[in-house]
Amino acid sequence: MEQLYKYTIIFLFASGLLTWISLYFVTAGYGRFGSKKWGPAVNPKLGWLLMESPVVVLPIVFACLGKVNAVTGVMLGIWLSHYVQRDLIYPFLIKNGAKMPLSIIAMSLFFNLMNGFINGFWLFFLSDYQLAWFASPQFILGVILFYFGMFVNIQSDKILRDLRKEKGPGYHIPEKGFHRFVASPNYFGEIVEWAGWALLTWSVPGLTFLFFTMANLVPRAHSNRKWYVEKFGEAYPKSRKRVFPFIY
Ligand SMILES: NC(=O)c1ccc[n+]([C@@H]2O[C@H](COP(=O)([O-])OP(=O)(O)OC[C@H]3O[C@@H](n4cnc5c(N)ncnc54)[C@H](OP(=O)(O)O)[C@@H]3O)[C@@H](O)[C@H]2O)c1
Repeated sequence: MEQLYKYTIIFLFASGLLTWISLYFVTAGYGRFGSKKWGPAVNPKLGWLLMESPVVVLPIVFACLGKVNAVTGVMLGIWLSHYVQRDLIYPFLIKNGAKMPLSIIAMSLFFNLMNGFINGFWLFFLSDYQLAWFASPQFILGVILFYFGMFVNIQSDKILRDLRKEKGPGYHIPEKGFHRFVASPNYFGEIVEWAGWALLTWSVPGLTFLFFTMANLVPRAHSNRKWYVEKFGEAYPKSRKRVFPFIY
């Protein structure tokens, strides 16, 4: 199992690099970039529910099979606070969302299986956190970052949903919260969350996950901003960056 863990991490880093580069040339065909060439598509609620389920289930399975202590128990709680929201709440809040291609669901499912595996295996089979870890600067700063990121992510997604409630189906220019600074503040929040996770676990799987998340979301934020400018022209605020406020 340890060999599989090591190879999965190497694979994720290598494929993450490839993903990061290729997503500047090909944009994943879901949401505003959906197209028939990505194959048959299903209701987005079902898509999100399916593809995010391994990251809820796998770490719980590893916790049942491995050794749990106070620190890894709390870390599991932090992990699940994100994934219960993403897998069991977020899908049911989507308003008039575009259909999700099965090809995208399959790719995300595969990534989530690997991610759930490396993080769950690390926490409950390999790590050796002591109680004093709770007082470490990495843990404290990591938790703060994680929940700040989660707040920005959930708030930004809600602002997008409210746009459709207020202005009807289709796409509108968001003007509230962190949307004033970047085209994709939900991605910014997500990246900050997993930076927090990498810090609070101080682990290679944490770092791997952060890298893979950035590999997916940074190029997509680039495409999102480009899309907004093409669709809304002069009406779209020029000062808005892609994903990192004031930077990129
Ligand atoms: N960890 C990871 O690697 C990862 C990867 C992908 C996504 N995520 C997270 O999953 C969540 C959703 O991601 P996403 O890529 O679907 O985000 P998104 O493109 O921002 O879309 C989020 C939702 O808002 C709607 N929407 C987007 N822009 C809108 C606008 N201008 N006006 C009205 N409605 C708008 C979308 O509808 P349509 O579906 O109709 O476009 C969708 O239902 C985010 O929180 C993201 O951080 C995480």
